[in-house]
Amino acid sequence: MNPIVTPAAVNPTVDYLRISLIDRCNFRCQYCMPEGEELTYLQQQAYLTNAELLTLLQEVLIPCGFTRFRLTGGEPLLRSGIVDLVQSIAALPQTKDLAMTTNAFRLAELAQDLYDAGLRRINISLDSLEPETFDRIIGNRGRSRWQQVWQGIQVAHQVGFDPLKLNVVVIPGVNDHEVLDLAALTIDRQWHVRFIEFMPIGNAGLFDRKGWVDSATLRQQIRDRWGLTEAQVKGNGPADVFQIPGAKGTLGFISQMSECFCDRCNRMRLSADGWLRPCLLNETGQLDLKTALRSGESLAELRTRVKALLTAKPAINFKMRESGTTGAYARTMSQIGG
Ligand code: 5AD
Ligand code: SF4
Repeated sequence: MNPIVTPAAVNPTVDYLRISLIDRCNFRCQYCMPEGEELTYLQQQAYLTNAELLTLLQEVLIPCGFTRFRLTGGEPLLRSGIVDLVQSIAALPQTKDLAMTTNAFRLAELAQDLYDAGLRRINISLDSLEPETFDRIIGNRGRSRWQQVWQGIQVAHQVGFDPLKLNVVVIPGVNDHEVLDLAALTIDRQWHVRFIEFMPIGNAGLFDRKGWVDSATLRQQIRDRWGLTEAQVKGNGPADVFQIPGAKGTLGFISQMSECFCDRCNRMRLSADGWLRPCLLNETGQLDLKTALRSGESLAELRTRVKALLTAKPAINFKMRESGTTGAYARTMSQIGG
């Protein structure tokens, strides 16, 4: 009898954990935040403390196989004591990789300390090079914030973050006219610009009005201008990576709308209030690790429950293509942990 071969792509090792440190954000990006309604935020006591997070990592999540971590929010740099927390996670002997996704508003001030604490990889949301467009996207009505974010990116580069990735959510009629300008940033800088297909998550109203642009269309636009070759970058995750011939940096395309990559999913998410969620769009089986920890459940029991969730994950994964819909989802990325 032939042995049943499970291709790695169908049941990949789940070793990557996205850790949301805070659900608040000082930006209100149009694609992320719902329109016309206030978000409700967690109370301080609902957050995992640094000590609880470190216990969960060391005693539960790392023993279950998680070794690569990304710190997210909301905006992770709004969490007080962020540098100490980065240092503690970077110092865990099993941590193979530690990265952060930030809006860079506080980065000019914090980049050096974060680097010294052991952070090496950083992803920054940068949806526009035009200050006015940028402010419109992030919902800013006061003094422009573009310059400060741009400064944060420069400082992160000087400090040595590598790879330094810039995330762009492309929205028709909002910033799609800037795709070539954003791509051009990679020609003489060793930066990695990643175009992300807009998802009906967070602000489904905007999605319904504007629609989304697929990666293949963007690639064609860029190919027509400069040509495009395949490339590699560290920690490329679900991105398809390319390069303008001769460019120092790369271009990534994250195509979760046009190409379902759910069956390659290697990640889970831990929310700021301690829920371990198996999938961005399906919460079946989610575990309330904080309540379990606070109520004195044994760490061995928690490990058993996390392992069971890991086993169940392939069946829980949302699988956009098979479901035939992306299903507008009630939580925003700032609540889930982008
Ligand atoms: N569609 C695609 N990406 C989103 N993000 C937030 N909301 C959406 C959405 N609706 C991602 C962006 C941002 C990160 C914090 O979350 O990539 O850079
Ligand atoms: Fe924008 Fe990220 Fe804040 Fe959402 S969490 S509003 S995408 S900066």
